[in-house]
Amino acid sequence: MYTKPRQGDLSFNSLLMQKLLLKNIKSLLSVYEHAPQKLAGAEMKQLPCIENAWLACEADRIVAYGRMDDFPGIMDWKELEVIDCSGKIVLPCFADSHTHIVYAGNREQEFVDRINGLSYEDIAKRGGGILNSAKKLRACSEDDLFEQAKARLREIISQGTGSVEIKSGYGLDLASELKMLRVIKRLKDLNWIPVKATFLGAHALPPEFTGNKQAYIDLIISEMLPAIAAEKLADFMDVFCEQGYFNADETTQLLEAGNKHGLKAKVHAEQMSHSNGIKAGVACGAISVDHLEYCNEADMEVLKNSSTMPTILPGAALFLSLQLPPARKMIDAGLAVAFASDFNPGSCPSGNMKVMMSLACIQYKLTPEEAINAMSINSAYAMNLQNEVGTITEGKLANLIITTEISSYGFLPYAFGTNLIDQLVISGKIWNND
Ligand code: NIG
Ligand code: FE
Repeated sequence: MYTKPRQGDLSFNSLLMQKLLLKNIKSLLSVYEHAPQKLAGAEMKQLPCIENAWLACEADRIVAYGRMDDFPGIMDWKELEVIDCSGKIVLPCFADSHTHIVYAGNREQEFVDRINGLSYEDIAKRGGGILNSAKKLRACSEDDLFEQAKARLREIISQGTGSVEIKSGYGLDLASELKMLRVIKRLKDLNWIPVKATFLGAHALPPEFTGNKQAYIDLIISEMLPAIAAEKLADFMDVFCEQGYFNADETTQLLEAGNKHGLKAKVHAEQMSHSNGIKAGVACGAISVDHLEYCNEADMEVLKNSSTMPTILPGAALFLSLQLPPARKMIDAGLAVAFASDFNPGSCPSGNMKVMMSLACIQYKLTPEEAINAMSINSAYAMNLQNEVGTITEGKLANLIITTEISSYGFLPYAFGTNLIDQLVISGKIWNND
């Protein structure tokens, strides 16, 4: 349990207790004594920084930071692990609030089929898409699934992700949804980074229920939800609200049932058509509504009067060549906006948040400050982790990116294909990716 150091504690002696000290940081980004819960509209342009800074971690927490000029006199750094960050920028790790990284195998054949002219909808209609992944997942053992997902988790951490939400939704029957959620629980129990679990039983209609969607909805409500709640396997409940999947009324029915089990709502909304998923989500108190390609002015009004975080998934829009969600318009209208990856085998086989940052700037015209905020503080809010990660604040988890030597933070989205991560601090320790 973290206790805030008392005023004046930052002496030679107390610093000897720290485990890790980053010194000579060229620029420390997103520094808040009291961090806001999220940033909306024009606030998204703010990125409070300390130039020539130091930062100390004790156990897994950020415990102190400041300007090198004001560094408390220290003679003996032996007890500390000290990292010289000269020329390097330090920022909070990315918070990826929307992923599906628990899946079996890949779907590169569908990628080729789309290149050759089929649409995502055509592929889904012939039993491909989500149902293809469901078939593979049902045939995969829990241990195999865990190993595949663990490798993806390791990959995204190495790319700078320091907290993540992971969805079920490729099981589509009780046993297989439980298998996915237990894998997510095992990923959480690795204690690498904070993991939030989302139950997405309503991702598609499984083949055994063709022509009987209400029976599948009833199964989710009367069997899956109670079993998942009993094992405490999920934090959130999500629905794919889309033509050919679940409509707004069905979404409401499902989310209300999730709420009764203490699962806060999330929605895949307005991705391929206007589905009224935003309205349904906001009415059910959703923590986020995600995708939003077909979000219109009326939806923005609904969002303005809510605590729901609109979340853009630029990798999926790119990979499926969808029209772009109106992220710029939303921010200009005063809304908060988050960006996440949607890492999944069908619509975004990448969880590289730095690439998402570049897309946010290049395609959606977010400034680098807005893009950084959208994928740290705001995306942390979208998984209820805003008090734990997303800014440089005393008491928050020390999950930090140390960049290579770069000229300014604008270089991060600009050099869109270059890694630029020199080292990662995860839970207050240097992350070793082996
Ligand atoms: O977020 N839109 C629905 N679900 C996923 C795609 C799932 C898949 O194709 O496997 C998404 O894009
Ligand atoms: Fe998704």
